[in-house]
Amino acid sequence: MRAHNFCAGPCTLPLDVMEEVQAELLDFRGSGMSVIEMSHRSPEYEAVHEEALTLFRENAAVPENHTILFLQGGATLQFAIVPMNLLVEGSSAAYVRSGTWGAGALKDAAAWGAAYAAWDGEPRSFTRMPSDDELEIRPDTRYLHITSNETIEGIRMGSFPDIDLPLVGDMSSDYLSRPVPWERFDLVYGGAQKNLGPAGLAVVVVRTSLLDSMNQDLPSYLRLGAHAGKNSLMNTPSMFAIYVTGKVLRWMRDLGGVVGMEERAARRSGAVYEAIDGSEGFYRSPVERAHRSHMNVVFRTPSDELDAAFLEGAEKEGLLNLKGHRSVGGIRASIYNAMTDDGVDALVGFMTSFRDSGRDPGRDPGRDPGRDSGRGSGRDAGR
Ligand SMILES: Cc1ncc(COP(=O)(O)O)c(C=O)c1O
Repeated sequence: MRAHNFCAGPCTLPLDVMEEVQAELLDFRGSGMSVIEMSHRSPEYEAVHEEALTLFRENAAVPENHTILFLQGGATLQFAIVPMNLLVEGSSAAYVRSGTWGAGALKDAAAWGAAYAAWDGEPRSFTRMPSDDELEIRPDTRYLHITSNETIEGIRMGSFPDIDLPLVGDMSSDYLSRPVPWERFDLVYGGAQKNLGPAGLAVVVVRTSLLDSMNQDLPSYLRLGAHAGKNSLMNTPSMFAIYVTGKVLRWMRDLGGVVGMEERAARRSGAVYEAIDGSEGFYRSPVERAHRSHMNVVFRTPSDELDAAFLEGAEKEGLLNLKGHRSVGGIRASIYNAMTDDGVDALVGFMTSFRDSGRDPGRDPGRDPGRDSGRGSGRDAGR
């Protein structure tokens, strides 16, 4: 039986995709070998590669004037690659310091060039995103970097900044769960291991016309133009991750692509927020309502002890990886595209029964959630 896996990433993938992968693992389409055993120059792999690129373009409605790249090093390597390619002498980069990941992106950019915080959410404990008029942009700024969804704090940008500056976006944790106004973005990137597929792959979408004017005096792997010139086959790509991502993209297309995923995300996160808001204060979300993530729902019970009991009880019900990130604690339900409706229903059901037993411990047949707080569900749920 498969668990309801609420991990923040890597995370649950569609069962149909997993079964297809399993069926093809030893003999990929009559080749007599696995896709992870063959040359990345083989016609079989090249077809997989092309199909995944095409499906990404189709699902995300990426226009022809943007190039899609499949790279390694996760989103974290893009924290460095983006400024290395885009920040030329004399210009600077503005970053929205909206949470743990936005802060990480800024730190890495500042290690390379002139990067500054156009807005800092830390004084408000990263509980909301800025409005456009709160952004403080300095002269000679090359781009504004945003994190569309802060995975750890559970906040999202409801709409993208509409300002007179090209945007760069880290969309790792809400990639392909919402439409992107591509004309405003010079570059978008994200790790695959949430909405797209296995870890080991970063998908970068870059405005093609910029590639020639980017820094050229970088080592080859760090130059986006070098990857674009070789269709992401300059070196051995993360073939397995790309292969599985292609299958996830096909699954997504059959469910209505990004539009279908956006509706799905709003509905399912909405059900959990409803359980929070309808709990008469038993559950609390620290996030300002308008900025609540549709992917990572963070909340707390009245105490650390009850949080621990919640996690332990949830695990017994097969609801796994609900522990909040170690830096913020509490509970976090990551509801990425491939999470099943059954998983969300089971979570909401458990939240209701736990609240009832938490208010009146005698009503829980097995245990008193207030008591043995020491155990809980040990690990935090990913990144
Ligand atoms: C928004 C965001 N940015 C960046 C990262 C780092 O991604 P990676 O582990 O692929 O380097 C994560 C990881 O969870 C993330 O959620």
